[in-house]
Amino acid sequence: KYIDKISFTWQTPSNIALVKYWGKSNPQIPKNASISFTLNNCHTVTTVDFEKKEKSKVIDFDLFFEGKQKEDFKPKIAEFFKRIQEYCPYIFDYKMTINSENSFPHSSGIASSASGLSAIAMCLMSLEKEINPDLSEEFMNKKASFLARLGSGSASRSIEGPLVVWGNHPAIEGSSDLFGVKFPYKVHDVFQNYQDAILLVDKGEKQVSSTVGHNLMHNHPYAKNRFLQANENLATISKILQEGNVKEFVSLVESEALTLHAMMLTSNPYFILMKPNTLEIINKIWEYRQEKNSNICFTLDAGANVHVLYPENEKETVNEFINSELAKYCQKYQYICDSVGFGAKKF
Ligand code: PMV
Repeated sequence: KYIDKISFTWQTPSNIALVKYWGKSNPQIPKNASISFTLNNCHTVTTVDFEKKEKSKVIDFDLFFEGKQKEDFKPKIAEFFKRIQEYCPYIFDYKMTINSENSFPHSSGIASSASGLSAIAMCLMSLEKEINPDLSEEFMNKKASFLARLGSGSASRSIEGPLVVWGNHPAIEGSSDLFGVKFPYKVHDVFQNYQDAILLVDKGEKQVSSTVGHNLMHNHPYAKNRFLQANENLATISKILQEGNVKEFVSLVESEALTLHAMMLTSNPYFILMKPNTLEIINKIWEYRQEKNSNICFTLDAGANVHVLYPENEKETVNEFINSELAKYCQKYQYICDSVGFGAKKF
């Protein structure tokens, strides 16, 4: 079908891994399977305007972030388009103008690549559906996740919700190294509407990017065992999520977070992304959990910020605890209250 000019807008979420992806081979194939909660409030809204141009070998696009031309993000997006061109040859036929906005504060240390790239992938799939109206929603989600993965691995988990698995794993039916799949089993009520408060400990640029971190897992002395352990943890958490054992959830999720950072501490060269306040918060969470017999726990991504996870029935008490005891460890007292969400939305 001939399309001269068309625009699509998608909102796609960020996600937080419970079992972590850290280590990959080419092209963006994970060394172990991972699972994440899809977030609700932390998202990107992206509009892509497509305008027909002469077919050429050039991928032509402009990028605006929060209304301003964004040259420093351009190389990452250009690389993304290069990686996906063989799967989306129509990108050579259009001049693309990308307008993107995040719901979370700029440079808050919350990775925007997952939500940002999955939003562009969904806009591309909308164009593809316009060209080929027979495409099913299932195919669009799968291919969007496949494309997003080529930009940033964890972005493959930002299309659906509330729980997404990426990486081929025998305990998860339909799972694949090539795209994320919605957790295919019924999840226990206690994990419905799970809460995630993101404590912004350090909003600065990370000293070591996740690309460099993943690469340091090649020749890492503990890599082999780590990949085995992550896959075992995925089988375990799959059971926990179905059966509703929150105590086991807490210890598995915290162990995953600390193991991720242990891999960084034992890389060559080694590095530390946690900050003193990350540890202050972790200790406070442990004290609170013991004193109140709470099911609060933490997880970390590749940075100093702390994600505080808790069941919905503890929302009021934990929010009060965060406000009175933990906010002081955040930069400018900033934290974001979020909860589990359901994935990409078209506007
Ligand atoms: O998607 P990447 O390449 O930025 O890697 C993300 C890795 C972690 O956030 C640390 C873990 C994960 O599974 O999301």
